[in-house]
Amino acid sequence: MKQLFLVLIFTVLPHITVGAGDWCYQSQFSCSAQCSSPSNWIKISAKCGEKKQSPINIVTRKTVYDSKLNSFTFENYDSSNTVIIKNNGHTVQVDLAANITISGGRLEGKYKALQLHLHWGTDAGPGSEHTVDGEQYPMELHIVHIKRNYTDITQALTDPTGVAVLGFMYEEAAQDNIKYKPLIDALLKVQDKGTDSTIPNMKLTDLILTKENLANYFRYEGSLTTPSCDQAVVWTLFEKTIPLSKAQLSAFSQKLFFKTNKTMRGTFRPVQPLHGRTVYRSGSSVTFVSTTVLSVSVICALGLSSWLH
Ligand SMILES: *[C@@H]1O[C@H](CO)[C@@H](O)[C@H](O)[C@H]1NC(C)=O
Ligand SMILES: *[C@@H]1O[C@H](CO)[C@@H](O)[C@H](O)[C@H]1NC(C)=O
Ligand SMILES: *[C@@H]1O[C@H](CO)[C@@H](O)[C@H](O)[C@H]1NC(C)=O
Ligand SMILES: [Zn+2]
Repeated sequence: MKQLFLVLIFTVLPHITVGAGDWCYQSQFSCSAQCSSPSNWIKISAKCGEKKQSPINIVTRKTVYDSKLNSFTFENYDSSNTVIIKNNGHTVQVDLAANITISGGRLEGKYKALQLHLHWGTDAGPGSEHTVDGEQYPMELHIVHIKRNYTDITQALTDPTGVAVLGFMYEEAAQDNIKYKPLIDALLKVQDKGTDSTIPNMKLTDLILTKENLANYFRYEGSLTTPSCDQAVVWTLFEKTIPLSKAQLSAFSQKLFFKTNKTMRGTFRPVQPLHGRTVYRSGSSVTFVSTTVLSVSVICALGLSSWLH
C-alpha cells in the first residue's frame, strides 16, 4: 500500500510542480493554475534559494542596537505629484519620480525612488511579508529606491546594496485614515491586470508615518521578495504601524484581481531563513514600548532573563 502510494506521488508530482508559466503566490496556486508557487520559485530563479532571502521574521529580542542607524533625510517626499497607478497582475504599484530621494539612515549616499507597492492578505487578515516576533500584520508597504548612480533596477541589482526598500506595516484602526482615500479610491480604476490610471496630487508623506515615528526601525541585508529574488536590498522596516480601517484594508483584496474573477489576495511570500544574518535596530535600547514589554527589557538588561523561563 505504502509503495503504491509512493508510486502515485512520484507519477503525479512532476505534473504539479514543474514550474510552468509565471510565478504566483500560494493563494493563486492550484494544480491547474500552471504557475510556480513560492516553494517552486527556485525553478524560475535559483537566487530564490540563496542565503540572504527576504522577507524574514524579526525576533526583536535578538536584534542588535546600532547607534549609527540615524534618521533619514527624505527629499521631495512632501511634493505633490500626479502619479501613475497600475495593476501588474501581482500587486498594485505606483511609479515614483526620480527626484524623490532618501539618504541618511546609514545608507551609502543617496537613493532615488522607483515605485511603491503593497502586500496584503484577505479582508484585513494577515498579509504582511515581514513578521515581527511572529506577528503578521494585515498589510505592508514597500517604497523601492535604487542608488542614485544607476539608471535602472537591472543595474542596481548587480550591487549587493544597489536597492533600498523602506517597509511599513499597517494595523487595523476603528476609523478611516483619510490620507489614504485617493489611493484606495483609485483601486477601482485598476481592478484588472494590466490596467493603469492616475492619482492627482499624491504626496508620499501622506502615506508614511509622521516624522516623530520614523526614528525607530530595523535594518538587515536581504533580497527582492519576488522572483528573481536578487540579493541586492538594504532593508529598512519601521517599527511603528500605519493605521487603516478594516474597510480600507479590505478594499485591496476586494477590488483588485490577479486576472478575470481571481481576487488579488494573499500577495506575500512566506518568511525565509535568516542563515546567520543579524538584524540591527535604531533608537535607544528601550524602544519596544508597552508596559509589559518594557519591564521584560529591563529584567533582561539586568541580566535576570533566566527568571522568565
Ligand atoms: C520631480 O519630477 C517630476 C517628474 O519628472 C516633476 O513633474 C516634478 O515637478 C519634479 N518635482 C520637483 C520638486 O522638482
Ligand atoms: C555606483 O556607485 C557605487 C558606489 O556607491 C559603485 O560601487 C558602483 O560601481 C557605481 N556604479 C556605476 C554604474 O556608476
Ligand atoms: C466572472 O464572474 C461573473 C459573476 O460571477 C460571471 O458572470 C462571469 O461569467 C465570470 N467571467 C469569467 C471569465 O469567468
Ligand atoms: Zn514588495
